[in-house]
Amino acid sequence: MAGGDECSFLWYNTLVFSEKLKILKENRLFREIKDRESPQGPRIKFAGKEYLNFSSNDYLGLATHPSIIDKVKRSLDDYGYGSAASRLLSGGSILHKELEDKIAKFKDTDAALIFNSGYAANTGIIPIITDEQTALFSDELNHASIIDGCRMSKAEVLIYRHKDLSYLEELIRKKIAKRKVVITDTIFSMNGDISPLNDIYGICKKNNALLYLDDAHGTGVLGNGKGALSHFNIHPEPWIIQMGTLSKAIGSVGAFVAGSSDVIEWILNNARSFVFSTALPSCVIAASTAALEIIEKDSDLIKKLWENRKKIVQGIKDIGYDIMGSESPIIPIRTGTVENTLRISQYLYDKRIYAPAIRPPTVKEPRIRITVTASHTNEDIERLINVLKDMRASK
Ligand SMILES: Cc1ncc(COP(=O)(O)O)c(C=O)c1O
Repeated sequence: MAGGDECSFLWYNTLVFSEKLKILKENRLFREIKDRESPQGPRIKFAGKEYLNFSSNDYLGLATHPSIIDKVKRSLDDYGYGSAASRLLSGGSILHKELEDKIAKFKDTDAALIFNSGYAANTGIIPIITDEQTALFSDELNHASIIDGCRMSKAEVLIYRHKDLSYLEELIRKKIAKRKVVITDTIFSMNGDISPLNDIYGICKKNNALLYLDDAHGTGVLGNGKGALSHFNIHPEPWIIQMGTLSKAIGSVGAFVAGSSDVIEWILNNARSFVFSTALPSCVIAASTAALEIIEKDSDLIKKLWENRKKIVQGIKDIGYDIMGSESPIIPIRTGTVENTLRISQYLYDKRIYAPAIRPPTVKEPRIRITVTASHTNEDIERLINVLKDMRASK
């Protein structure tokens, strides 16, 4: 291509993006990053000002726990900070293996494998546990990383209405396929409701389907921290694959998959996001292991989380807001329009409370997503409720 043509080509593309951005801004769907000037926690700092933080998935407040920080510092001395290669190429450390053994024990499975993130786990695993002869049944409100994993799979993907069990049962019964897989979040990340796993387990068993669970928000929160299966008293069968993240209640970064030895070895050998990606640094792994140790020893943190949740939910309901079926520390407030959602989020922000507006395409229906943690104090919760009350009155 001649120099001039190349220039006009680039100019054309730039114009396309600026036009697209203009449309996003006109529709009030443009997003920007707020750069935090403090550690994660119930109080955070933006542009020199402190805000009460109701946006974090650090449900147990472990992202800044002093004894975890000590262990991370020690691991830095022992292993340095970079990991230099994928684990199959020598990038991992003995700490990775120790964490996997711990997770397998915690989840009561044969084995576990660490991924660099929940997104990497879902997009890496789903395509390689399915094939052209698989029918994959996915809840319509599953996380974006599951949706993308399904898109990358060669399976036929059938989306079932959110938690609609009779619909799922009918779909799965009628579908003729050599292999069937049901995929669901355990706690749905934007609605905060819990998947009816007892029934889904029964449907899978009856129809000989594999069950893949994304326990990102259930791990550390449900079942004394062990996650959704434990919450429902379901034994982790070999035909159940449990994925979860280390980035939420565990307060670190990364994800895991837990299941039978064969499944884990298959994933280790085939998941492209595992095989072709540099391992997480040992200090990050040390943080996850230390967090799991705390969760195992100290049930008070989880108790406090659920007590705080109860207080917030009561307060929000008393004001008259609709919490969209929340059953967990994720508490959305139905806000109707994008305009109203942005108005409420800004009102809270002006009162030094950070609770972000969630808009399409993240969700179909806009909302304020409040998350509560074990680190919030009674005063923090009261302040949120009072501000929400004042806002309702001033409407
Ligand atoms: C249900 C669910 N699955 C997967 C992920 C992705 O996890 P990560 O942030 O570790 O990539 C998230 C997090 O945002 C999530 O909410």
